[in-house]
Parts: sequence; structure tokens; C-alpha cells
Amino acid sequence: MSNGNGMAPGQVVKVLIGVVVFLVVAIWLLAKLATSGFNVDAEVMTKEAVAARLKPVGESVASDAPPGMRNGEQVFKGICISCHGTGLAGSPKFGDAGAWAPRIAKGFDTLVQHALGGFNAMPAKGGAADLSDDEVKRAVAYMANAGGAKFTEPKVGGEGGAALDPNVAGKKIFDSVCTACHSTGAAGAPKFGDKAAWAPRLKPGLDEVVKIATKGLNAMPPKGGFTGSDEEFKAAVEYMVNNSK
Ligand code: HEC
Ligand code: HEC
Repeated sequence: MSNGNGMAPGQVVKVLIGVVVFLVVAIWLLAKLATSGFNVDAEVMTKEAVAARLKPVGESVASDAPPGMRNGEQVFKGICISCHGTGLAGSPKFGDAGAWAPRIAKGFDTLVQHALGGFNAMPAKGGAADLSDDEVKRAVAYMANAGGAKFTEPKVGGEGGAALDPNVAGKKIFDSVCTACHSTGAAGAPKFGDKAAWAPRLKPGLDEVVKIATKGLNAMPPKGGFTGSDEEFKAAVEYMVNNSK
């Protein structure tokens, strides 16, 4: 009595038992792997997993500065620190000159490119898509400098602190700070776009209006509560004024 494979029934049974035992052991091992944390390292290292874990951090950057206005230190402490603070996932650790030297040797532009676009396990913009390119540049300079580089951190508000574009810098500040009162007219604030409300205020000229608003006026707090530079505040006033006359 033999089947088509030339095996006796007894042998077939033994082979079948062997297969079943093998499967049971394999499933048990897989289950153990899945629940015991053996696979944590592999999971931690994937770009997606790391980025996903950090997403909430990137979305709630703790800083007083309005969007686009954070300096390198603020961006680092809000975003990059989650990996670079400890060297997570093989990232060059903050302040570790040995880890940073070969990176710095690539030059500022390359590092910025990698920080903006991503590089292996380094996600684009550290996973915080809301960072402006300049904010990322500042953070790269800040981190690299702490690791021994002598890069110039791009100034908040553009090259050399030159006059800021009201439609860019000014709008950002308006949207994050001034809008609270000036969009609604709260507390008697002249409303954005309300020519009649603004005309009498603008008579003394822009510089005088900026001066008054910087000091504060009745229910208008000094600088409207904005904590950034005078240039930035002026850009916000200009943005509001340009759109209200
Ligand atoms: C999710 C973790 C993570 C976050 C968050 C993160 N990085 Fe990285 N970063 C890495 C890793 C990992 C590397 C190393 C990549 C490699 O060399 O393979 C790296 C490398 C870099 C490098 C060196 C690139 C090069 O060419 O050698 C720069 C610059 C950098 N990061 C900037 C930043 C900045 C700026 C931020 C914050 C805006 C940031 N990183 C946030 C993980 C992170
Ligand atoms: C808490 C509410 C509030 C916020 C926030 C606020 N303002 Fe005002 N602002 C006012 C009020 C109220 C007035 C009118 C004060 C008055 O005339 O008694 C005013 C007036 C002004 C004026 C006119 C000053 C003048 O000479 O008549 C300017 C300019 C101005 N605000 C700019 C800003 C800017 C720029 C921001 C954002 C950075 C801002 N404000 C944020 C309440 C606010």
C-alpha cells in the first residue's frame, strides 16, 4: 500500500504531525514577538512611525512667537528636541561635537536641504510641516552651532532685520495677535478695513500711529500684547493700515 508519493500512510501521518507542530511553534513565537516588545526597535526606527509619534508635538509648538517668527532655539525646543535632544533614531545629538562634525562638514546649504526635505529617518521639517523654511534654517544653524559650527542664524524677520513686508510678516502677526480685537472691533478697537474708523487715527501719520500703538492706548495694550520686535509690530500696523484706507 503506497500513495502517489511513494510514502506509506504511517509516514504521511508523521509528516502531517510534523507540519502541525511546526506551525503551532511558529505561531506561538510570532505571538510572543508581537507582545513582548522584541520588535520595538524596528518599529521605532521607521520614518513613518517616528514621524507619527511626534506629530502632536509638531502641531502644538509651545512658543509665544507667532507662526514664522520663531528663532532657532524656539524651533529646536518645540520640535527638533524630541529626536535631537537625545539622539533618537540615530540623529546627531544636540551639543555633541563629535556627532555634528561630519554633518557640519557638508555645509550649511546641504544641511538645510536635508532638514527641509527629509534625510533617511529625519522627516521633512522634523515632521512639523507648519514651520516656515526660514524657521527650519534658524533651527539648523542653532543646532549645528551648538555642535561646533559657526553658521549665521538667519534673523527673524528677514535679512539683517531690514524693513519687513507688511503683507507677509505683518499679516502673520495680525492673524495671530491683533485679529482678536481688530477683526471684531472688541473694546472699541478700530476694525480692520473700516476706513471711517481709521481715517481720523491716521491723520498724524504712520510713524505717530505706530508710536501710540507701541505704548498702548486705553483698552489697546502696549503693542497689542505682541511680544516680538518693534519692526514686526510696525509691519502689523502697516498691514492693518494699508488695508483700511
Ligand atoms: C523624528 C525624529 C527627528 C526630528 C523631530 C528631527 N530630526 Fe533631524 N535628524 C533625525 C535623524 C534620525 C537624523 C540622522 C539622519 C541620517 O543621517 O541618516 C537627523 C539629521 C538631521 C540633520 C543632519 C542632516 C545631514 O545631512 O547630516 C539636520 C541638519 C537635522 N536633522 C535638522 C533637524 C531640524 C532643524 C529639526 C527640527 C525642525 C529636526 N532635525 C528634527 C531625526 C529627527
Ligand atoms: C485686546 C484688544 C486689542 C488687541 C489684541 C490689539 N489691539 Fe490695537 N487697539 C485696541 C483698541 C481698543 C484700540 C482703540 C484704543 C482707543 O482709541 O481708545 C486699538 C487701537 C489701535 C491702533 C490705533 C492707535 C491710534 O493711534 O489711534 C493701532 C495702530 C493698533 N491698535 C494696532 C494694533 C496691532 C498692530 C495689534 C496686534 C499686534 C493690536 N493693535 C492688537 C485693542 C487691541
